[in-house]
Amino acid sequence: MSLRFDLLPPTIAEAHQHFEAWVSAAQDVNDINRLKGVFIGRKASHLTLLTDLLKQTPKESKADLGALINHLKMTWETALSLRLEQLVSASASSSVDLTLTPPVLPQGAVHPIQRLEVHIVSVFRTLGYHVEEGPEVETEEHNFDGLNIAPNHPARRSSDTFYFEAHPHLLLRTHTSPVQVRVLKRLSQKNSQGVSLLESLGGIRFLSPGRVYRKDEIDPTHSPMFHQVEGMLIGKNIGLQHLKGTLSYAMKALLGADTEVRFRPGYFPFVEPGCEVDVKCPLCKGQGCRVCKSSGWIEILGAGLVHPHVLSHAGIDSTAWSGFAFGMGIERIAMIISECPDLRLFFENDLRFLQSMREVR
Ligand code: DAH
Repeated sequence: MSLRFDLLPPTIAEAHQHFEAWVSAAQDVNDINRLKGVFIGRKASHLTLLTDLLKQTPKESKADLGALINHLKMTWETALSLRLEQLVSASASSSVDLTLTPPVLPQGAVHPIQRLEVHIVSVFRTLGYHVEEGPEVETEEHNFDGLNIAPNHPARRSSDTFYFEAHPHLLLRTHTSPVQVRVLKRLSQKNSQGVSLLESLGGIRFLSPGRVYRKDEIDPTHSPMFHQVEGMLIGKNIGLQHLKGTLSYAMKALLGADTEVRFRPGYFPFVEPGCEVDVKCPLCKGQGCRVCKSSGWIEILGAGLVHPHVLSHAGIDSTAWSGFAFGMGIERIAMIISECPDLRLFFENDLRFLQSMREVR
């Protein structure tokens, strides 16, 4: 049965002739909605007009007009929803331009203090040292007593050390040395045959890096929190020669093969004898400059032979075992290497400073 287009009122016939062109000219959802309103909308659209017309049509033409209305309704609805689909998918794909160069995201990096810590650890790893960790909240016993620090020692004062009010024997560790006490106590534990862990290992050497806390006012060379690395070696017949050999090697590996190292007597309660270790100023090569305060030398760490009291406090026979220990400040070494005169820069996280430190070893 052929469709009777001649039954259409002239305005609708004309609109239908333009329908396809209008649909393909539609550019967005609004255009589509406007066309929908005109052709198939619920109120006063061509479709409602035709439905009204159908009611007044004489019987003999009703079937023909009905078929035509169904055909037009289908045609209009299908064309409009197809075009809408086209427009939606076109706008979705045009919002992702695959040819665009991706933005360069800023790259993160390891903090210079962390990087130096890793470097120091790696130097000592080549000498067989492993890493031990201890808590930052320590007991007075580990931080002071076990290290032979006298009950009236000034470092114990509450003006120098952060204590916990509710737990007067707990504090924020003031150095990494309490890790010595923890490790030595563990090594003194005996197995069922009465053999200590230290004996079965035949000795130990370890490094312990970490954060330490002191009640210091913040200034270019002080901060209430900073980083240290502790080192310890325990064995049989260990003497100053082992300490000097180890630290001279490590300082050259850290600061350069031509680094000169000097050992001076120094006092720390947990070592006897104790010493302070200086390196020839790596910046002025001993000529004297601002960094070495014109002396040509820079104090870089404290060290010494482990005091027998430290061993015996931990339950280790100090007549059978001996060893050396050392401790150094990481920020201090970082400041020397990078010629940075102000410690605070390491904690302020100014990206310009941190980026400038990337080149510094
Ligand atoms: N604990 C000392 C400090 O914080 C550093 C130190 C000196 C550690 C001598 C040692 C050592 O192990 O033998 O200043």
